[in-house]
Amino acid sequence: MKLHSKKVLLTGASGGIGRAVAISLARQGARLLLAGRDMAALEKQKVAMAGADVSIELVELDLASIELSEQVDQLILKHPDVDVLINCAGVNLFKACDAMSSEQISQMLDVNLKAVLVLTSALLPLLKRRPQAAVVNVGSTFGSIAYPGFAAYSASKFGVRGYTEALRRELAGSNVQVFYLAPRATKTTMNERAVLEMNQELGNAMDDPAWVADQLVKAIERDRFKLFLGWPEKLFVVINSVFSVLVDRALIKQLPTIQTYLKREI
Ligand SMILES: NC(=O)c1ccc[n+]([C@@H]2O[C@H](COP(=O)([O-])OP(=O)(O)OC[C@H]3O[C@@H](n4cnc5c(N)ncnc54)[C@H](OP(=O)(O)O)[C@@H]3O)[C@@H](O)[C@H]2O)c1
Repeated sequence: MKLHSKKVLLTGASGGIGRAVAISLARQGARLLLAGRDMAALEKQKVAMAGADVSIELVELDLASIELSEQVDQLILKHPDVDVLINCAGVNLFKACDAMSSEQISQMLDVNLKAVLVLTSALLPLLKRRPQAAVVNVGSTFGSIAYPGFAAYSASKFGVRGYTEALRRELAGSNVQVFYLAPRATKTTMNERAVLEMNQELGNAMDDPAWVADQLVKAIERDRFKLFLGWPEKLFVVINSVFSVLVDRALIKQLPTIQTYLKREI
């Protein structure tokens, strides 16, 4: 799908990957509707992007709010012309399963999974009326390879991948395309210090958010509906789906290191 002149609603627009996606979308001439909780951060970004010759509007949206549906209804009334929804917002916590509180679990599932379903369901009637439309969900390598220390996050991202797959099958042949992008570790503030140090010790590569954003935008422009980023991660995704025991063995070797960093988080 060509993004020129398309109106794109982007969640997580104040985040590391989201900011870069906004810039990359602007280069393609998309009209931007940047969503987030932190309006000051979004205003700052709008000013920083003033040179880009595209329309940029902002909308306040708290994806963990119990009033999310009402907020989305307001958004739809004001912006009935959205062509593309990009669900990029997300939260992460590096914690052992027995160290997660029920509030932390709820917040993770609300933002990473429930909000994706709520926004998509609410926007689909509009998207179906546009000549060409798309839903783009940002998952993670951990949405295919469940990783120790990230169990809740992995569960939420497995959910996003499953939802995206079903949605793509449900909308096959319609005007609404469905995309899934799974980045591997990326250099944003989502990853706390312990995770950065652990990744370094384990030799896990971390990508630049601008590169990830460009991959996402290229995937949309080239109709690549499912994209896993990074070697050897994309190979492990395939191996995990066929011979998960091999990935079990690899991760058991990493476990002592992961546990050392997890203990720091208690
Ligand atoms: N960074 C990685 O290593 C990595 C790897 C694979 C996949 N991903 C995925 O990539 C996406 C973007 O991640 P990132 O690295 O850019 O993370 P980030 O820099 O931490 O940004 C997260 C974004 O989500 C927004 N958000 C969080 N809670 C929200 C809420 N309740 N309501 C509305 N917005 C909320 C944040 O807004 P506020 O400014 O209001 O907090 C921020 O814009 C996520 O889906 C993440 O799971 C990231």
